[in-house]
Amino acid sequence: MEEELIGIKNAALSFILEAESLESIEETKLQFLGKNGRLTIAIKDIKKVPEDKRAAVGMLANEVKETIERAIESKKQNLKEKSLSHVVKKIDVTNPGKAAPIGHLHLITQAIEEITDIFKSIGFTRVKYPEVEWDWFSFTALNFPQNHPARDDWETFFIDERQSDKFGPMLLTPHTSSGQIREMLSNKPPIKMLNIAKTYRRQADVGHTPMFHQFETLAVSENLSIGHLKGTLEYFVRSFFGPNIKTRIRPYHFEFTEPSFEVDITCTVCLGKGCKLCKEGWLEMGGAGMVHPNVLKNGGIDPQKYRGFASGWGVERVLLMRENLNIDDLRLVYSSKLEFLEQF
Ligand code: DAH
Repeated sequence: MEEELIGIKNAALSFILEAESLESIEETKLQFLGKNGRLTIAIKDIKKVPEDKRAAVGMLANEVKETIERAIESKKQNLKEKSLSHVVKKIDVTNPGKAAPIGHLHLITQAIEEITDIFKSIGFTRVKYPEVEWDWFSFTALNFPQNHPARDDWETFFIDERQSDKFGPMLLTPHTSSGQIREMLSNKPPIKMLNIAKTYRRQADVGHTPMFHQFETLAVSENLSIGHLKGTLEYFVRSFFGPNIKTRIRPYHFEFTEPSFEVDITCTVCLGKGCKLCKEGWLEMGGAGMVHPNVLKNGGIDPQKYRGFASGWGVERVLLMRENLNIDDLRLVYSSKLEFLEQF
């Protein structure tokens, strides 16, 4: 009987040692200490032991029972701690957290919003017109004669599949000036339009991306003069570049304006003193002029009664000038390189 009890104890202890889960511990407990467990049955047999030995066997049986119970309890504790320590590790609040990356608006989007706000404050309304457009709106209606070599200066992407008898081929807008015609055909004067859009030209090198942005103003009203044009551009330049930056207009030629100008501003690097970038203290910003009478006519507006002024500048250009950003390769602006984009 004693040997049997010792055998039960050893068997139970080795099961307990090997148990890897609380369930298997419970199973072991049932197997040895349950109603029909091995030890329970053995204890029932103690009454068969001769009387003189019964007390000693009884004591041994009790010892075995206690040993098994203690081993079960301590193993249970052990297993619980193990699984708990795993959970605790997972929610350790002292661990340094992983910050979720937070994005921001693209630098060009930020510039577009700023430009929009400046012109809005003097009554210009931002509009949107097609960026896939007919030739007529981009060239013909803007007073470019058919097959005129000036069209080549715009290095346009044409879409071969579509052709209209009235409007010619389709293209990707090479400038925002097509918005002038769209605006005049859909609104009556007085007009104060700001058209900011994507523009496309067949050029891709360190200084050019095939897609860039322009912002175009058009004002049409009675009695508009070059003074209004200059005042508007000066207001924009001072708001965007700072109060010390001056503006000058230089005679130039565009098909759709008469007279036409190029607009320069004080160099943002040397502030007008003259440097490597500007040479004589001025930087060229973009085009402007008084709307050509033919263009007013093509927009359904009587040139005898109304005058217009317009301007078209590059968003990327004004932003890079203001920030004095000497980017080695302009194409970076439209790459998805976060090391670059996150700086703005
Ligand atoms: N469309 C011209 C370009 O892309 C810029 C321009 C010049 C726009 C004179 C105008 C303007 O509205 O009056 O080069």
